[in-house]
Amino acid sequence: MKLKAILIGCLALTATSMKADELIKVRTQDIDLILKVKDDGRLTQSYLGKKLRDEADFGWLEDGREAYTTRGAEVYFEPALDIVHADGNPSTFLRHTGHTTKALGAGVQETVVTMEDQKEPLTVRIHYVAYTQENVIKTWTEIQNRQKKSIQVKKFASSMLHFYRSGYYLTQFNGDWSFEAQMTTLPLAFGKKVLESNLGSRADMFASPQFILSLDQPSTETTGEVLLGQLGWTGNFRFTFEVDQQGWLRVVSGINNEFSERTLQPDETFQTADFYFTLSSKGLEQASHDLHDWARRHQVKDGQGDRMTLLNNWEATYFDFNEDKLVNLMDDAVRLGVDMFLLDDGWFGNKHPRSNDDAGLGDWQATSAKLPNGVGRLCDAAREKGIKFGIWIEPEMLNRRSELFEKHPDWVLMFPNRDPQEFRNQLTLDLSNPKVQDFVFGVVDGLMTQYPDIAFFKWDCNSPIMNPYSPYLKDKQTHLYVDYVRGLYSVLERIKQKYPRLPMMMCSGGSGRIDYKGLEYFTEFWASDNTDPVERLFIQYGYSFFYPSKTVCAHVTTWNKLSSVKFRTDVASMGKLGFDIKLTDMTKDDIVYAQEAVKNYNRLKPIILEGDLYRLVSPYQSTHAASAYVSKDKRRAVLFTFDIQPRAVEQRHNVVLRGLDPNRRYRIQEINLMPGQDTWVKNRTYSGDYLMNIGLDLFTLNKLNSRVVELTEE
Ligand code: DGJ
Repeated sequence: MKLKAILIGCLALTATSMKADELIKVRTQDIDLILKVKDDGRLTQSYLGKKLRDEADFGWLEDGREAYTTRGAEVYFEPALDIVHADGNPSTFLRHTGHTTKALGAGVQETVVTMEDQKEPLTVRIHYVAYTQENVIKTWTEIQNRQKKSIQVKKFASSMLHFYRSGYYLTQFNGDWSFEAQMTTLPLAFGKKVLESNLGSRADMFASPQFILSLDQPSTETTGEVLLGQLGWTGNFRFTFEVDQQGWLRVVSGINNEFSERTLQPDETFQTADFYFTLSSKGLEQASHDLHDWARRHQVKDGQGDRMTLLNNWEATYFDFNEDKLVNLMDDAVRLGVDMFLLDDGWFGNKHPRSNDDAGLGDWQATSAKLPNGVGRLCDAAREKGIKFGIWIEPEMLNRRSELFEKHPDWVLMFPNRDPQEFRNQLTLDLSNPKVQDFVFGVVDGLMTQYPDIAFFKWDCNSPIMNPYSPYLKDKQTHLYVDYVRGLYSVLERIKQKYPRLPMMMCSGGSGRIDYKGLEYFTEFWASDNTDPVERLFIQYGYSFFYPSKTVCAHVTTWNKLSSVKFRTDVASMGKLGFDIKLTDMTKDDIVYAQEAVKNYNRLKPIILEGDLYRLVSPYQSTHAASAYVSKDKRRAVLFTFDIQPRAVEQRHNVVLRGLDPNRRYRIQEINLMPGQDTWVKNRTYSGDYLMNIGLDLFTLNKLNSRVVELTEE
């Protein structure tokens, strides 16, 4: 009896003192991220994958791995967090102390998990924002120092994700100036694969801050489980993919901690960059659709707004222009039928006129020798001609030959006692300095105040940080890379607050800088200085996995004279269309064709810019390429096909569509034809079923040949 009572007592004690593992659920329509709070307070990532149908199964989920590992608590592999505390203790042991979930808006929930170190006063909060309909999760971390003295934060990842699968296939996007976002896929095996940047301002010049991770086996457009991840940080980033001895993969994403150790003062909180990801169990296409929808609805500046077609003068004139030349080019813009004329580099500097890239940068007053009546006359001319006027700036940079450098050498990133190293003859302003931030804001604000007609900015950034030393930060030099980007965001935020609808293009000598945090402040980005349409097929293809077409600026130029203006325009029409060419470089027929192509583009913008993209034939896998945009209601579509370099004897295969309604009938019509060009692709109707099973014989064996086909529901 006594024994029985003791046993019952023990059981009761166990039942009350042993908490059941608590689950924290971050859920979207198709994804589940399930975290587990163990009875000792440790937080693990129990599940990440396709949404589980029955919550009753949750009890069977394994513990998984520690969700956010810390130096000292687990020393074998790269941790997410590495801190030396005020007392010199280099270890951190985090335990869950609470979590909350709240709605941020329709279909958007934020979960915040709070953890504290067991011994040192330190709070870490991991934020997860789930976009239900779009299947995107945004996550970041806050690190709060509650110690009486400062602490050293040596590594501060935004996110750590774990996988235990039979195989991992990583697709990376890397390149350089003029061959951005080239794709390579490789299997991951034991050890580390790191993708990172140390370039500071033009941070993505060699590698884009994004990756595709296929689980178990390589994914295709329509099959496979695949994660698309991106770091929202317009600066140095680092992704570590580490496979351990048991075959687990951890993915640690964040700002690059290289030369970026932070000193956190008492009560100071450090917020990491955002990491965004989507996970699809139906292959790449679904993942891109989700990301594109999310970007348009939640992330990109004016993501749901229209975009302007334009004529840019850069390749038409380079630095060699005057008022008359520009006004004549505006007439070209009018003839083409585009919405805007964009004045590029070379319009500023008086003591050191900008007639080349070695002078004038930083002095944002119009060069009177070139533009005696200033920018105002150009705004007036554009208005008189019925088009908008946009202007190029590069406000974070300067030449040594500039009045700005003469006046403010202390505003420039340079090592003391060393000759500065230059990139494209220029240096970088110290954006960690609030006075410099005011100056940079003033470049946009000053121009807008003086010329309220300015309707667009192209914001360039042609140099990485070459001399990472801030006169302003003094003994905190390791804060520079992060504070530079924060300074940039503070300027961009002020611009957005004051000019919320002002469209701006993010440019960095091509796309040497592009990420989704930046796109909170920019409506679009310049995908590459390489406008050879064949190269563009590859570059735009790479970016299409992450970015919707309305953000990808694509211009028609004179690059690749072997290709026709039609081929170049058809390639550019898959993105945000522009021209960077003189009409004198085009034949009469080219001009008639281009005028028609601009009209077609304007008519089809709702499909190309707002519809779903189907990558039908990859330029990486054949001598052709094809993509289609399908309206959300599936009533209309635009199909682009390209014959790049086919062999004379190769077999041609039909272009088989996807995304149509099998039960509807579609009328097909080839458009963007050269004057007098005939086509068999007209006056026929097909069912969606036929088009998606049998497809159309649209490829040819001609080199550099293209077609644009419009499909309209009958
Ligand atoms: C680099 C950009 O990518 C080009 O489009 C052009 O704006 C030049 N800079 C101007 O210097």
